[in-house]
Amino acid sequence: MPGTAGDMDHLFRRKRVGLLKPLLSLSLVFVSFLMIHKLKLAEKDGARQKHARETYWCDAECASSKKGGGKTAAGSGAQRAPSGNRSSWDAQILNCSEDASLRSQGWFQRLDPRFHQFVLYRHCRYFPMLLNHPEKCAGGEVHLLMVVKSVIEQHDRREAVRKTWGKERAVEGRKITTLFLLGSPASGKDAKNLQKLIEYEDRLYGDILQWDFMDTFFNLTLKEVNFLKWFDLYCPGVRFVFKGDDDVFVNTNNLLDLIDFRVEARREADTMVGDTILKAIPIRNRQSKYYIPRELYDKPYPPYVGGGGFLMSSQLARRLFVASEDVELYPIDDVFLGMCLEKLRLAPETHPGFRTFGITKHKVSPMNSEPCFFKQLILVHKLGAEELLRMWSVVHREDLVCAKKTSI
Ligand SMILES: *[C@@H]1O[C@H](CO)[C@@H](O)[C@H](O)[C@H]1NC(C)=O
Ligand SMILES: *[C@@H]1O[C@H](CO)[C@@H](O)[C@H](O)[C@H]1NC(C)=O
Ligand SMILES: *[C@@H]1O[C@H](CO)[C@@H](O)[C@H](O)[C@H]1NC(C)=O
Repeated sequence: MPGTAGDMDHLFRRKRVGLLKPLLSLSLVFVSFLMIHKLKLAEKDGARQKHARETYWCDAECASSKKGGGKTAAGSGAQRAPSGNRSSWDAQILNCSEDASLRSQGWFQRLDPRFHQFVLYRHCRYFPMLLNHPEKCAGGEVHLLMVVKSVIEQHDRREAVRKTWGKERAVEGRKITTLFLLGSPASGKDAKNLQKLIEYEDRLYGDILQWDFMDTFFNLTLKEVNFLKWFDLYCPGVRFVFKGDDDVFVNTNNLLDLIDFRVEARREADTMVGDTILKAIPIRNRQSKYYIPRELYDKPYPPYVGGGGFLMSSQLARRLFVASEDVELYPIDDVFLGMCLEKLRLAPETHPGFRTFGITKHKVSPMNSEPCFFKQLILVHKLGAEELLRMWSVVHREDLVCAKKTSI
């Protein structure tokens, strides 16, 4: 399953010295971007303008009080939610000390040291929230909730998603809402600045869910379980969930058509559709990003959908949450979800519109940038921010002429 879970790990494996400089310049670029954006917003009318100005002029004292509200998590946010007396995010006490009893066990000592951290902290499942938006799902029905796995540094990808497939809107009365799922910055000199930046970004857009766990590749499964719990708690009025990476192209209209089709065929409840991987076995090549040592897992994988992007019904998301609580965390997030599905005795369905491995397996093929394919498909991995913006505008041009049937 190379490529499905995004490429966040390289960011965190680069040497610190190499990381510092680009991050600082990135921070500067981002801050100036935000300034420009705020000015643009101020020109527009409506409530958003007011919101932007308020946050812009929020002084240090006000900012810290806001931050305090976020830190205690969910709690304060939940009280704001209009739907009244619902419980709030309760994962506040963090016992995340390592499970030291493992260190004396033979299998642990034989285990590839790359997995020690994961195994030692495997019991830590739910984390406090640093940024929460209980109001997102409250008040009326959301037809499609789009949740996007991202990391703080990838602000340009989030920006592109907001302008394209993740744009919040109603299509023929069907409301689409988008949220980004983030962890906390890995500790280091830049952690504080990065945290400030993401808080700024969230004040502008109000679309970031952030948990207090380190945003590393092996922690992606934490994003899965914490989101499922969050969804179960705050989103009773949502019908469908699309979950995916921040470097994919999604043809939102085709996704909505797929949803319509499921509803019409009365197959809403068990919807779990994507690029399904059957009969996969753990990768034993130690060079691979997806390498899994035998000490950790020694069976074929259950069927699972590639984490690049998939669609599920809200009923299934809730059942998955319940099932997930009895499944031990696994370092690859989409395989973990497959394990939860297996527990429910369900298998995901595959749909040829989901191309989590790209349109063709040949990376240099011109087909990978042929707009007519993007017009027909539902999801394509992977596109950077620029590519996404460009492809989106081409695909939505009135004068784009595509033959009726194009086969790949
Ligand atoms: C919320 O519900 C709980 C139990 O259902 C109750 O004890 C509590 O008083 C309620 N709080 C409010 C603010 O209504
Ligand atoms: C935290 O969890 C570890 C490992 O499960 C356990 O050994 C320890 O006693 C716990 N600490 C507290 C304060 O609950
Ligand atoms: C996952 O996040 C927790 C909390 O920040 C951290 O203690 C743990 O080391 C992380 N695990 C991995 C494998 O990065």
